[in-house]
Amino acid sequence: MILAVGYDHGGFVLRAAVADFLRGRAEVRDFGIFEEQRSDYPDIALKVALEVSEGRADLGVLACGTGIGMTVAANKMRGIRAGVCNDVETARLGKAHNNLNILAMGGRLIAPEQAPAILEAWLSTPFEGERHLARINKISAAEASTLSTEGLGGGRVVVFNHPLVQHKVSIIRDKNTSVKEFRELVQEIAGLMVYEITRNLPLSEIEVETPVALTKAWALSGKKLAVVPVLRAGLGMVDGILQLIPNAKVGHVGLYRDPETLKPVEYYCKVPQDIGEREVFVLDPMLATGGSAAAAISLVKERGGQKVSLVCLIAAPEGIKRVHAVHPETDIFIAALDDRLNEHGYIVPGLGDAGDRLFGTR
Ligand code: PRP
Ligand code: URA
Repeated sequence: MILAVGYDHGGFVLRAAVADFLRGRAEVRDFGIFEEQRSDYPDIALKVALEVSEGRADLGVLACGTGIGMTVAANKMRGIRAGVCNDVETARLGKAHNNLNILAMGGRLIAPEQAPAILEAWLSTPFEGERHLARINKISAAEASTLSTEGLGGGRVVVFNHPLVQHKVSIIRDKNTSVKEFRELVQEIAGLMVYEITRNLPLSEIEVETPVALTKAWALSGKKLAVVPVLRAGLGMVDGILQLIPNAKVGHVGLYRDPETLKPVEYYCKVPQDIGEREVFVLDPMLATGGSAAAAISLVKERGGQKVSLVCLIAAPEGIKRVHAVHPETDIFIAALDDRLNEHGYIVPGLGDAGDRLFGTR
């Protein structure tokens, strides 16, 4: 387990007690402050929250004077559920009911000796799920329609959860959705995502003669694009994307995930010869452990790809963390960020096996 921790001058008094408690229990990523000095709690809270939000840390611990400032700041980051817990019962219920992924304490309200029991209650209590999960899902749904966070390596995670996209994602999650409908919807969602993934394409000014007047206008400035679906399931996204960017070239990477080891096994790779001159979008509906996506991006880079982004429909935090560990500069575009992986490496709640659902093979 990886924990990100951070303190301002008001929480500094708890620093040693927290470090002692976590030693041997978790890998700790420490965002300071390292010496007692006046500091701004948002600077620290936002760094810790970003680590958790982007899956580089599993959980976070923050301390300021009361725990409130840190909590307010941390909750601005996507997927963060931070709460002030200055006693054991709040910590226990904060996990059982609210699945707090960041616990904040107040160095001016509790003594250092109280911190270990609070942390123990939080870490050892399981989330109860069920009605509490339904409530948390309502909070997630209220987060803004397009959210973007930037990782330390520069690669962004952009969640394109536009209402239309969310509606269509809900239908493909449903196990009763037919193969035909699933296939159509995957294409439609991929098509809608084009608006987001191409947002930064450069434009140049041109002159256009309308029936009324000569005017200046904007045109795409010749940026070349390529899409590279990861076989099989990535194929399901290609046509939806090509409808909007018909001149993009198409490469293919063949990978399957070994069901025992969950490691990707490569069986095919062919990309456009001029891949180095193109902006490349690797396509795969599912980002689970991230092994397949990281390997696919590596294959594209080995063949000369320079600017490579990843476009997925559903991602697990573990997959984002893995891809950014290997390719920190890669932008990852997703339609939904799910909770976790199960023991078989499937995304929960996810949609099951995307390849089988697209091609009707099960
Ligand atoms: C699925 C999916 C991804 C991969 C994701 O493919 O389409 O490529 O799993 O898992 P990961 O992030 O843990 O690597 P699968 O291996 O089932 O192959 P298929 O598309 O040929 O069915
Ligand atoms: N591959 C899938 O198709 N679905 C998952 O949930 C994980 C890997």
